[in-house]
Amino acid sequence: MKKKEIVLSGIRPTGNLHLGNYFGAVKNFVKMQDMYECYFFIADYHSLTTHPKPEDLQGKVRQVLIEYLAAGLDPEKATIYLQSDLPETTELYLFLNMNAYLGELERVTTFKEKARKQPDNVNAGLLTYPTLMAADILIHRSTYVPVGKDQEQHLEMTRTFARRFNRMYKTDYFPIPRAFNFGDDLVKIPGLDGSGKMGKSEGEGNAVFLAEDPKSIRKKVMKAVTDSGPTEKNQKKPEPIENLFTIMKVVSEPGTVEYFDDQYNNMTIRYGDMKKQLADDIIKFTEPFREKVKEIAANQEYIDKVMKMGAEKARESGRNTVNDVREIIGFKRIH
Ligand code: TRP
Repeated sequence: MKKKEIVLSGIRPTGNLHLGNYFGAVKNFVKMQDMYECYFFIADYHSLTTHPKPEDLQGKVRQVLIEYLAAGLDPEKATIYLQSDLPETTELYLFLNMNAYLGELERVTTFKEKARKQPDNVNAGLLTYPTLMAADILIHRSTYVPVGKDQEQHLEMTRTFARRFNRMYKTDYFPIPRAFNFGDDLVKIPGLDGSGKMGKSEGEGNAVFLAEDPKSIRKKVMKAVTDSGPTEKNQKKPEPIENLFTIMKVVSEPGTVEYFDDQYNNMTIRYGDMKKQLADDIIKFTEPFREKVKEIAANQEYIDKVMKMGAEKARESGRNTVNDVREIIGFKRIH
C-alpha cells in the first residue's frame, strides 16, 4: 500500500468554535481523517507569546480539545495532541532557529502587526513564531498543511527553512510542505454584521458559536443587519442579505432557501420571518454539538485518555525525526 500523505494542522487555544471555523476548517479536518495520516494539535506553546495566566491556559486548552472532539475529530483516526506534550518540537525549533535570520523574521506580517499591537511585549517568541510553526510541521515530516490565508506566509517560511536545512546538510530529509487547498469544499461563512467574514474579533454579535445557548443564538440572528427590502423584482442581493442566504445554505434544507429566495425575487420577503427560520435552523444544526460537548466535558477520564493516546503517537513520530536530525547535524541519537 502506498504510504498515506501526512497532513498536519495547529489550532490556537483561543475561545470557542463558531460556524465560520466549522465550515471553513473543522468540517474538512473531519473528512481528511479518513484520507490521510493526520496530526491535529493545540498550539499551547505558541499561546505563551501573549503571556496567559496558568489557570486560563489550562481551561482554554481543555475547552478547545472538547469542542474539536465534539465537532468530529476522532482520536482513533487522527493523532490529536497538545503541542506541549511533544517537547521534541522545542529541540527542532532550536535547530531551525540557528538557520533563521533576523531580517526575514522581522519582515513577517504577523510579527509586525503583533509588535504594533503589543509594543511592551515584543518578545523573542513572537519573533520566532514562524520557526516554532515550522518545527510543528517538520517534526512529522508533513506534506500537507491546511491553513487559512493568514498563515500562508508562515507556511512559505517553513518551506524556506526546510529547503535551507536540506541544502545545508546535503540531504532531502525534509519534504517541502504544501498548503492544502480545499477548493470548492471551502465555504467562507460571513458574519451577522452585514459585511466580511465571521470572526470573534469582529465585534459582539457577529459570530455564532456552536456551543452557544439557543436563546443567545436567536437574539444574535434576529439582530443581524438587513435593509428595507428589495425595490425591484429579481434584484441582486446586497451583501448583508446575501450573507444571510449564505449561512442559510449551510444549515437549512434546500427547500427553505428556495422558499425565501423566491420571496426575495418577488419582493414579498419579510426579513423577520427569514431570520426566525434561520435561527431555528442554526439551533437545530448545532444541537447535537452542544449535547456532545456536555457529554465529553463530563467525562474527564475520556479526555485524559485522548490526550495520553495523542501524546504517545505524536512522540513516536517526533522522537524519530529529532533523532534523525540530531544525527544529520552531527550529534548522537538520544531519544
Ligand atoms: N499559527 C497558526 C494559527 O495562528 C497555528 C499553528 C501553529 C499552526 N503551528 C501550526 C497551523 C502548524 C498549521 C501548522 O492559526
